[in-house]
Amino acid sequence: MSQPNTTKRVVVKNSLASATHFVAELFQSTICEAVARNGSCSVALAGGTTPHALYHLMAFEAAIAELPWGSVDFFFGDERDVPPDHVESNYGMAQRTLLDNVPVDPARVHPMRADSDDMDEAAREYEQIIRRTVQQENNGIPSFDIILLGLGGDGHTASLFPGTEALKEDKRLVVANHVPVHDRTRMTITYPLINAARNVIFLVTGRDKAEAVEKLLDQRYDDDKTIPAARVRPTDGLCVVVLDKAAAANTNLKPEED
Ligand code: 6PG
Repeated sequence: MSQPNTTKRVVVKNSLASATHFVAELFQSTICEAVARNGSCSVALAGGTTPHALYHLMAFEAAIAELPWGSVDFFFGDERDVPPDHVESNYGMAQRTLLDNVPVDPARVHPMRADSDDMDEAAREYEQIIRRTVQQENNGIPSFDIILLGLGGDGHTASLFPGTEALKEDKRLVVANHVPVHDRTRMTITYPLINAARNVIFLVTGRDKAEAVEKLLDQRYDDDKTIPAARVRPTDGLCVVVLDKAAAANTNLKPEED
């Protein structure tokens, strides 16, 4: 198999705030460039807690809030098996912090229906929505303009957790994935979809992520099953890993000037 032609860039900022602001500016430039080039922009948002501040900043920072939000197709990288209005819902979090606060086109916001009685069928339907909506392709796979990812302390990203079945998926773009550590099933995008993206952005902050970050940046873990995030290597895309100083504590990387 040909080696991916990934361009990986690691950016360390002094604080959570400056790391978040840096990613917001990346979103701004990438969305404007994609809409100017294509008339639209495709984005897959991350869940968890780290993106709260990013989504809020994008909604309320004057310069950024003026983006062509109505031309953006919003998807999600993963979702818990709860309804959209549940406190654990990644969609609900993005809705409260960003989507309800900027002029998106509701028809272009696509929550994952991970609360479906048949999550496997719902995942297949979600994949079809992606294939119908995201026009750019990379080797026949829809190529997102931006996929935002977080990193768990155990090295997971999206809901690609160590030792789970979804790590083996090399055809489907979206699957239901049982996560024993949570004893729950989640819906998640897979490596084929992630690695077809034009831009993958990791936003990772906090000292509790330092060990996972160390392994993420160590090429010895690139195919290791213990750090699923290390297998994110966009085939012909850019992977930007944005860290605050605390998350970079186990590396010799020094923060850029804010
Ligand atoms: C989720 C996320 C998950 C998250 C990491 C980091 O559904 O929880 O998609 O992949 O990005 O677990 O989570 P925190 O940002 O809360 O540390």
